[in-house]
Amino acid sequence: MQHFLSTLIAALLFLQPDAAEAMDANALWDNRCEQCHGEAAEFSGKYLWVFGDRLQGQHHVKNLRLFLRNHYIPDHGIEAIYDLLRAQANTSARFDNDCGGCHDSAETFVRKSIFTRAGKLTGAASGLPVDEFLATHQNLPKEDVEFYSKLLERVSLEVYGQ
Ligand code: HEC
Ligand code: HEC
Repeated sequence: MQHFLSTLIAALLFLQPDAAEAMDANALWDNRCEQCHGEAAEFSGKYLWVFGDRLQGQHHVKNLRLFLRNHYIPDHGIEAIYDLLRAQANTSARFDNDCGGCHDSAETFVRKSIFTRAGKLTGAASGLPVDEFLATHQNLPKEDVEFYSKLLERVSLEVYGQ
């Protein structure tokens, strides 16, 4: 009995790090991802976008969940890490606030007014590349021109596919 109990305790202690990671996506990130990707919030803000339930990576646009399944994450941690990244990813909320009054939702606007020509995101009415157009639209500062250009590009991937 004594032996059985100490084996059991040893087994529980052995399992504990994994169990703790499953409970805490931040710990999982710190232990297994940070060395390559730095802070989770910064990584998500730079590379990840969320539309509805789906997370888009910069490169892994359609298949991020599948990619993650083969990427340093133990199976039990997939959902937790996915939720962590999703909570910190970019959304189209800023468009809704800052542009929605005149342009409706980002998705509606993209369907109506944005298409890709020769690999460049282009405004249908102006015929101009979106980043060029935005540089003189609504007094947007430079970093916002970049942000909204990227946002419209991400939304158009979502709307039109790749
Ligand atoms: C040894 C270094 C390394 C570790 C550890 C690592 N990654 Fe990565 N990760 C990479 C590299 C390199 C890429 C780019 C390769 C690619 O896109 O196929 C990448 C890509 C990604 C992407 C896709 C980004 C995009 O733009 O589509 C996500 C999300 C990601 N990693 C999450 C994680 C998570 C979560 C963990 C921890 C569980 C993790 N990574 C651990 C090196 C690492
Ligand atoms: C006060 C209303 C208003 C706001 C707010 C506004 N826009 Fe516009 N936008 C317009 C109008 C009107 C046009 C078309 C006429 C023009 O300016 O050339 C336009 C045109 C555009 C175009 C070009 C579309 C085409 O077919 O060529 C883009 C891209 C665009 N807006 C993006 C944005 C973004 C991103 C924001 C938020 C940061 C924003 N707009 C905020 C009124 C607005």
